[in-house]
Amino acid sequence: MTAPPSRLLLLGHPVAHSLSPTFQNAALRRLGSPLVYEALDVPPASFGDVFRALGAQRAAGNVTVPHKAAAATLSDRLTPLAERVGAVNTFWVDAGGAIVGDNTDVHGFDSAVRELLGRAPANIRVALIGAGGAAAAVLAAADRWPGCAVAVWNRTAARAQALAARFAGVAHAEDFLADAIRRADLVVNATSVGLDGQGIPVDPALLPRRAAVVDLVYRPGETTWVRLARSRGMRACDGLPMLVEQGALAFERWLGVAPDRSAMWEAVRQKAGVAPGAPAPRADARVATPGAEPGKA
Ligand code: ATR
Repeated sequence: MTAPPSRLLLLGHPVAHSLSPTFQNAALRRLGSPLVYEALDVPPASFGDVFRALGAQRAAGNVTVPHKAAAATLSDRLTPLAERVGAVNTFWVDAGGAIVGDNTDVHGFDSAVRELLGRAPANIRVALIGAGGAAAAVLAAADRWPGCAVAVWNRTAARAQALAARFAGVAHAEDFLADAIRRADLVVNATSVGLDGQGIPVDPALLPRRAAVVDLVYRPGETTWVRLARSRGMRACDGLPMLVEQGALAFERWLGVAPDRSAMWEAVRQKAGVAPGAPAPRADARVATPGAEPGKA
């Protein structure tokens, strides 16, 4: 086992309002670790220098918007999953001093869907809206679900086609959103639409009522899309379960031990001003997060 990292950081731009320090530090305290998880705002122009310098210090951490693709290029070695997605959200330094880039967003998404559906996804039709790095993580997860087919639609059609071609075993691109959603069992928003608290990627009234809805965006009081879908009686969750789960797996990668997930969720709920001891949020009864700033898992 390698030595613990010298530091733990979140690198992004901006990062000031991320929930990750809140729940990672709760888990570190619960473990009795002296490490403190810091958020570092790194402008794109200096990301390469900062990332390499942190590697030389044997630091570890997370990478978020807009640096995930750059981190994949700058890592010395990628896990097969990070290679497949083309994006790194978790990094550490191995015994030989190499920066290893991984992607735990895939696990975070997979875990959020299992919780929402109440079972392992299999033989389902997925409509995926968006074609950026977050959408690639969704496809890497869906690629492992038996009998699954994903219709990808994006505002810029060429990006949907390029992404679907990278995951040709499970995905195809659709030119029209209506065709992508028509027979979907699961509809995923992997765009940034909704971060402003108003926009929705597609009217839930147009979705099959049996469909489950996963929004990768999270924001105080949940997203409008998730609220609208629930008000139609549909199962829906925002990006918070994915955020916590990607962080829990990252924690395990850095420290070789699983975090106390209940400590993580308790910290998220306290930040949100929810009474301690309230039941852990579940996908079908998520606690709103009025104290938290918006983000994307
Ligand atoms: P990420 O890594 O978070 O996925 P990204 O690679 O910048 O970020 O991708 C953002 C996604 O949100 C893209 O699918 C983008 O669509 P385009 O490829 O057409 O740009 C989508 N997106 C962002 N703003 C949008 C909007 N107002 N309407 C529709 N899609 C939007």
